[in-house]
Amino acid sequence: MLFTTKIAGVAPLLLAAASSVVSGQQTTTTTTSKATTGQGTIEVNLNDTDSIKNAAKTVAKHLISYYPGDEPGRTIGILPGPPPDGPYYWWEAGAMWGTFIDYWHYTGDDTYNEMAKKALVIQADPPQNAFMSANWSASLGNDDQGFWGMAAMLAAEVNLPLAPGEADWLEMAQAVFNTQAANDRHDDECGGGLRWQVFHSNTGYDYKNTIANACFFNLGARLARYTDNSTYAKWAEKTYNWVRDVGYIDKNWNIYDGGHVPHNCTDINKVQWSANAAIMIHGVAIMYNMTEDYQKWGIPLTGLVNRTLEFFFPSPQGIMVERACELKDRLLCNVDQHSFKGYLLRSLATAAIFAPSLVRDPIVKIFKSNIQGVIDACLPDGTCGFRWNVGKYDGDVANGPAGQDMSALAAFSTYLITEEKVVVKPLVTNSTGGASKGNPNAGERPTDLISLREMTGGDKAGAGVLTAFVVCSILGTYFFLVTGVGERGK
Ligand SMILES: *[C@@H]1O[C@H](CO)[C@@H](O)[C@H](O)[C@H]1NC(C)=O
Ligand SMILES: *[C@@H]1O[C@H](CO)[C@@H](O)[C@H](O)[C@H]1NC(C)=O
Ligand SMILES: *[C@@H]1O[C@H](CO)[C@@H](O)[C@H](O)[C@H]1NC(C)=O
Ligand SMILES: *[C@@H]1O[C@H](CO)[C@@H](O)[C@H](O)[C@H]1NC(C)=O
Ligand SMILES: *[C@@H]1O[C@H](CO)[C@@H](O)[C@H](O)[C@H]1NC(C)=O
Ligand SMILES: *[C@@H]1O[C@H](CO)[C@@H](O)[C@H](O)[C@H]1NC(C)=O
Ligand SMILES: *[C@@H]1O[C@H](CO)[C@@H](O)[C@H](O)[C@H]1NC(C)=O
Repeated sequence: MLFTTKIAGVAPLLLAAASSVVSGQQTTTTTTSKATTGQGTIEVNLNDTDSIKNAAKTVAKHLISYYPGDEPGRTIGILPGPPPDGPYYWWEAGAMWGTFIDYWHYTGDDTYNEMAKKALVIQADPPQNAFMSANWSASLGNDDQGFWGMAAMLAAEVNLPLAPGEADWLEMAQAVFNTQAANDRHDDECGGGLRWQVFHSNTGYDYKNTIANACFFNLGARLARYTDNSTYAKWAEKTYNWVRDVGYIDKNWNIYDGGHVPHNCTDINKVQWSANAAIMIHGVAIMYNMTEDYQKWGIPLTGLVNRTLEFFFPSPQGIMVERACELKDRLLCNVDQHSFKGYLLRSLATAAIFAPSLVRDPIVKIFKSNIQGVIDACLPDGTCGFRWNVGKYDGDVANGPAGQDMSALAAFSTYLITEEKVVVKPLVTNSTGGASKGNPNAGERPTDLISLREMTGGDKAGAGVLTAFVVCSILGTYFFLVTGVGERGK
């Protein structure tokens, strides 16, 4: 007997509501206009590996339709944006390529590898290769750079082939790490830690948040594992300890968003995003695997995983909910937040692989309860909605919709870890077949970038409200800097 998912949508479901929701800083419009009449859901037999891979393939194919980068006149590597040129900030494409690389890693389908390679190589911005192109400096947070750096790190770990002569993946990850470990990104405010933004002039420079430090911690842990160089591990540990000691991780393993420098980071914004949990858990799992130190890393790993599963996969359904913004009757989630679920699933899968005796069982269990929600949320053509706990495609295409597909793609790809018989290729290191050789000094900055830092007079591109338009000329190039109101919600 085959277990094929139920076909929903016998009754015509015409959703044509357009609601505008304003709450605090966030303004989100939800437009649900697609009739789901008889469309059914994506077909998946969860007892059949090939069927799961096919579902992932269908979603991957749909996801790439949002990427115009290879068309003439478009910038290679990015999704349409950043606002106001399109909905997506620069970082999200970095996250998308990471999702596609993981898709290859889990399913073996290399259809998108060439595109991912090209994207990473161009956006790394040679010769520095630190993902700091002046094109994106108006919204360059340490987290934005970090998401691209983590995609490059993943490419090294899965041995994504690269033509000889190009900077290699490890070098790119090291370049990101080195620029973030440099003195000019660190100060003693709040006792240490990275600021959210790279440049003084960007809104959010006075915010020291979890995600910026989580990305740096995550890269440090993975570089330590890959290279066996303890400098990275020391930075990782120091960064984790700072995040915890400043109170962004509390004693019950909740992970909060951040605090402001003028308040010595004590004005903690207690919103919990799955992306923060994702990037922290991944790094902690690597540190545990490397050290096998249960006290130092095993307890935090189980604590964080326990709390994360409980918080983001509320019972009885055990289906993921982005609780801070995904309300029952409306959405407050912005474009960024529409992509978060996938990062958590990818990180949990990695944690299950690196600490099987501690966390594999609860993670496999939650993947199994979660997946039906994802199936219900996707149409047969691979269009996926955002809400997974409503038993149908929610028609939510306004805020994204690439993030919705990224999350569903991650869900189907990582579901393969639940099957004992599927052997996922191990993540390599320098001593276990990793082709990336790297360069410990990568990322050293040419002088023009130093002057860019001093001269950038713009502001953080925020929630898409344009209040000023500044053009300044630096070294003969024009930089368009937008001023936004409010911070991105992450
Ligand atoms: C799928 O596999 C599970 C576990 O092996 C089994 O309990 C279930 O009956 C199977 N379902 C179908 C429809 O074959
Ligand atoms: C930066 O923008 C220029 C002009 O649009 C483009 O040619 C270049 O490829 C871009 N570089 C990156 C890294 O996006
Ligand atoms: C500011 O916060 C840091 C880290 O929590 C702490 O070590 C320091 O004592 C605080 N400074 C003041 C003036 O409260
Ligand atoms: C997480 O849950 C498991 C299973 O209930 C438990 O053994 C473990 O001690 C918990 N971890 C922490 C830090 O509470
Ligand atoms: C470390 O990770 C490997 C997979 O890469 C796994 O086989 C091993 O059991 C892990 N070690 C520990 C202590 O969990
Ligand atoms: C990586 O391994 C190669 C040998 O394959 C060795 O020459 C090199 O020094 C190693 N690099 C690091 C950073 O350990
Ligand atoms: C280890 O990493 C640090 C930090 O990037 C670097 O300065 C040092 O040269 C590296 N050591 C080796 C042996 O590669």
